[in-house]
Amino acid sequence: MITIRLALLSIAVLLPIAVSALLPGDPQNGYPLHQLKCSGCHVALFGGDGSKLYTRADRRVQTVEGLMGMVTFCNDQAGAGLNEFELDDIVAYLNESFYRFEFD
Ligand code: HEC
Repeated sequence: MITIRLALLSIAVLLPIAVSALLPGDPQNGYPLHQLKCSGCHVALFGGDGSKLYTRADRRVQTVEGLMGMVTFCNDQAGAGLNEFELDDIVAYLNESFYRFEFD
């Protein structure tokens, strides 16, 4: 009985760690940051909610490294002033919602 409880406990404790280990950022934190600092310009330029930019057939980003690079680039260009942890959160949000790159 105790063994089973311990097994269940370790699953409950370890699962979120395993999932979040895929990317360092937190998508739930990335979402509002992206709304606040990034969406406005993308909406103005690409219409709709701006997300077409991430789903269009000829999108620029093709790898997760490319995504990190583009998020950093846009942050610098736009002077959004986000720190590296906030950028990680946005990368996690964009990957979970749009790009969906997979990791082994
Ligand atoms: C001042 C306007 C502006 C702001 C603010 C801005 N971007 Fe962008 N972003 C662009 C433009 C323009 C492109 C398209 C570049 C291209 O296609 O050559 C782009 C493209 C991108 C792409 C690549 C899309 C693809 O094709 O796969 C990502 C990712 C991205 N932006 C993330 C962000 C993030 C994250 C922020 C907030 C930190 C942000 N952007 C803020 C203008 C902006």
